Order: sequence, then structure tokens, then C-alpha cells
Amino acid sequence: MTTSQTTTQNLLLLPGDGIGTEVMTEVENLIKWLERNSGAKFSIETDLVGGAAYDQHGVAITDAAMAKAEAADAIIFGAIGGPKWDGVPYEHRPEAGLLRLRKDLDLFANLRPAICYSALAEASSLKRELVEGLDILIVRELTGGTYFGEPKEIVTLENGQKRAVDTTVYTTFEIERIAAMAFELARKRGGKVHSAEKRNVMRTGVLWHEVVTATHAAKGEGIELHHILADNCAMQLIREPKQFDVIVCDNLFGDMLSDEAAMMTGSLGMLPSASLGMPDPETGKRKAMYEPVHGSAPDIAGQGKANPIATIGSFAMALRYSLGKAKDADLIDNAIAATLERGLRTADIMQPNMREVSTSEMGAAIIEEMDRLSA
Ligand code: IPM
Ligand code: MG
Repeated sequence: MTTSQTTTQNLLLLPGDGIGTEVMTEVENLIKWLERNSGAKFSIETDLVGGAAYDQHGVAITDAAMAKAEAADAIIFGAIGGPKWDGVPYEHRPEAGLLRLRKDLDLFANLRPAICYSALAEASSLKRELVEGLDILIVRELTGGTYFGEPKEIVTLENGQKRAVDTTVYTTFEIERIAAMAFELARKRGGKVHSAEKRNVMRTGVLWHEVVTATHAAKGEGIELHHILADNCAMQLIREPKQFDVIVCDNLFGDMLSDEAAMMTGSLGMLPSASLGMPDPETGKRKAMYEPVHGSAPDIAGQGKANPIATIGSFAMALRYSLGKAKDADLIDNAIAATLERGLRTADIMQPNMREVSTSEMGAAIIEEMDRLSA
């Protein structure tokens, strides 16, 4: 997708709750930098999501905000949730806003790259030699499976006991499109895909295995495909993470495996993500939302301690996948690496002999590196 330099691009910023607002400020600074320095033009909308939306409107996202999301070239999402909203009705809990965005915009493909910057190899809980140079892409199905399957309920039985049900459902079409996406992405990387499921106990796993195999035959030429049981995948990620290139899996396994992969990079505060829809048949454009994998971290909110790198990295993914500005995306990624090389660290990735900086200092340092690298 290419977009001419002068087109105005519509961005919707949804900072959300907790550290979401702090990390989003750093993205706003980046947007200003790009407007000053790279001829980009953005039209920015902002709205509430999660607990912030609930406090104001009684729902986790309003129809008006959804309409803005529908119209945006890219949505940048911060984080949602916190103990403050523990007591709100289940259908209005902060997470419901995020899930509605994913479902209503049909953002079926969640790309979660886990890259270990060499400057951060010591910050990982695994040994340096296991994680240094790590570059994994988790491709998580995001609109099906256990998250959305019906029935999904708690019923009271005649004997007074309760019975809770979540349903894991997948159709051929849903598996096929996420598998095709994984093969397409693998082609531009290491050419290897691990498909993780539980076909030994789940019918959805049996179908997943079958459809991924068929999609590989049809669309996976030249790609090495490995089927792996999801529990074994979790174990292998810790044992020898560098054996993986692309991992494709369902919604629930992807939720877990991506948190696990995130820690290998040093901190959950490092991991960006992109959630993409189907290409529009006429324009080829995909609906897209970009968000850090970390949550709202209410324990450190408002203290300037949050690591903005995952959100800045998510914005770089927006430039790459939605806004036709791969060069600017490269510049941001290089600036992040350079800032880490200089020894600057937020609290979550702090190491001996490094300089601990606040959220805004980290954001400013990355922008300084962008100035330097583009001079
Ligand atoms: C994630 C988060 C969400 C999920 C929550 C906040 C609903 O953990 O994006 O990984 O479970 O998908
Ligand atoms: Mg998660």
C-alpha cells in the first residue's frame, strides 16, 4: 500500500486507562515530529475507551467512538482496565471496549513481533545467548475462538450449583485467512511457520491442523511448516526461542504465548502489536489498530515510570502497515535501538550502570535520535 506524502491520514488515538494516557503523549510528540520533518499530514481524533469511557458514558466504548474507528486509516490504542472498575457489570468492563473494536472492525490478524534488542539481552529473564538476536513474530487469530464463541454464560442449575461455559469455535474460513497471513508474512522473514494448537484434546485443534495443512499446500510454497502442540510450544519458547520464526495460533493460545515471548525481549513494555482486517475489495486498504501488548499497569500509572517503547513501536507498525511510510517506521525502530544503546532505561528494563529515565525522557531521547539519524 503506498500513500503519497501529501495525503492527510486520519488517526484515531484511544489512550484509555492507566499508563495508556502517558504513553500516548509520546506518540503525539512523534506525530508532531513527523509533520515537521517528513512532510506527513495527519488529522487526529481522540476518544475514550475502557474505564475512562465507562466513567463518562456508562459503556466501554460509545457508538460515536466506533464510528470514528471505522473511518480512521489507523487507530492507536493505549491500554485499558484497572481495579477501579472491578465492580462494573461484565458487559461494560473496560476490556469490552477493546473486544468490540476487534470484533466490529473484524481485526482478525494480530501481529506481535518479539524482538530482543542486543542492548537489552541482559534484561531478559533468560540467558543472553538464548535471546540475543531473537526475532519472533506471533500471528494470533483475534476475532474468533474462546473469546467470542457462544454460548458464553454462567447459569444456575436446579441444585443451586452454577455452571460456566465458554465456547471455542472456528470455521474453515477463519483458520484459512489467518494461516494465509502467516505464510505471507513468513515469506518476507525467515520462511518458517510453527502452527500451534491442541489437536490431541480439542476439535478446534483438529480442524486448525487440517486447514493450516491445506492452506500451506495451496499458498505456502517455499515455506517450512511445523505443527506443534500449544503446550509444547510454550515449553520450546523457553528452551530454545530462536528455533521460531513465525508462530500462528488461535486467539487464546496467542494471548498466552505472546505474553511469554514478550518477557524474552526484556519487558512487556517493549512489545508492540498490529491488528489488521481484511483488505477492502476496492481500495486494498485494511482496517487496522495498533496497540502495545502491555496493559494499563495501574500500580505505576501517573508516575512517569511507564515504558513508552511498546506504544512508539506500535505507531511505527502503523506507519509501516497502514500509512505507507516504511522509511519513517525504520527510522523510529533505529532510534529506539540507538536510545537503548546509549544506556537509557525506563524502570521496567533498568540494569546496573544504566541511566533510569522517565516516560517523557525516554520519548524525548528517541526523538533526539530521530533528529540525529535523519540529519
Ligand atoms: C491482550 C490482552 C487482552 C486480551 C485483554 C486486555 C482483553 O491481554 O491484548 O493480550 O486478552 O486479548
Ligand atoms: Mg494478553
